Amino acid sequence: SLKAVVEGVGGYLPERVVTNDELAKRVDTSDEWITERTGIRQRHVAAEGQKTSDLATEAGRRAMEHAGVGPDDIDLVVVATATPDLTFPATAAITQAKLGITNGAAFDIQAVCTGFVYALSIAEKFLVSGQHKRALVIGAETFSRILDWEDRGTCVLFGDGAGAFVVTAVDEEEAGGRGILSSYLRCDGRMTDLLYVDGGVSATGTIGHLRMQGNKVFKEAVNKISEAMEGAAAVAGIDPTTVDWFVPHQANQRIINGVAKKLDLRDDQVISTIAMHGNTSAASIPLAFNEAVKDGKFKRGDLIMLEGMGGGLTWGAALLRY
Ligand code: ACO
Repeated sequence: SLKAVVEGVGGYLPERVVTNDELAKRVDTSDEWITERTGIRQRHVAAEGQKTSDLATEAGRRAMEHAGVGPDDIDLVVVATATPDLTFPATAAITQAKLGITNGAAFDIQAVCTGFVYALSIAEKFLVSGQHKRALVIGAETFSRILDWEDRGTCVLFGDGAGAFVVTAVDEEEAGGRGILSSYLRCDGRMTDLLYVDGGVSATGTIGHLRMQGNKVFKEAVNKISEAMEGAAAVAGIDPTTVDWFVPHQANQRIINGVAKKLDLRDDQVISTIAMHGNTSAASIPLAFNEAVKDGKFKRGDLIMLEGMGGGLTWGAALLRY
């Protein structure tokens, strides 16, 4: 049988950095409030004309370089995004073309901040079935385009960016225990009104802005994320407290700390990039993962837990051996 092994990772952040102090000039907020409540110190914002597919392409190119593979080696492109370039075609199709990939399938996944966990899980199923051989799984967002820059309750939280994994189908024996071991995906559509965009093709014909009842989302977060991580661990037959590393979706440092505490994880096992990136939605997990790889933290065979929670509400976790 086959295993889906992570062969390479990459990340891309737009050049422009917006600090908390800069935001405090636009809305009634302060560096102190933002840092204390969320852990965020700065975020990156895409340049005018810089599209989600541009970010996705750069992250994808870097992941392919890291894996040592070229465009002809990829036969599946999955992009998780809630901020596509166009209504259609999929941002994955546009990204595929920019990367010079001409084989196989390409499509988008929409599960907001849980998007990368959903996309990775779907790619894994395609790979272990033997239907596809090597996937480029990307989380890419330009949330700056859907923020209400007058709403201090949301505009301080998000940033733009993209992260990518190259995931390859490998014979189980050759994989030697490596690969995506399990995933756990959930959605409760009754909680749409906690976090949504008030525009779209068929409802309003406009793009709309992100609306969030932050404190209500916060209350759901720790329990739902813990449930997902325990669920993914149970499927793999692993005690969740034995993971080597925890790569959470980067929404709020207080949520990350709450989950880490519940699972008895030490601070030095938790990958946090929220201070520098803010919440980049579907991009946050692969971006954080990429930072940890660049820092030389992960060793071959390490057990790594990924988790996300976002609009839908959606939530999920994936467990992999690097
Ligand atoms: N600066 C200063 N004051 C602010 C700001 C700001 N940027 N934003 C809100 N406030 C004020 C509010 O107006 C409120 O004032 P009031 O008491 O006078 O009414 C006060 O701060 C407290 O507001 P709360 O919303 O209750 O603050 P809370 O402690 O909950 O922190 C936050 C807000 C940071 C948004 C938090 O709720 C949070 O992180 N929620 C989760 C967000 C999240 O995880 N989203 C999930 C994924 S995102 C996705 O899927 C796209």
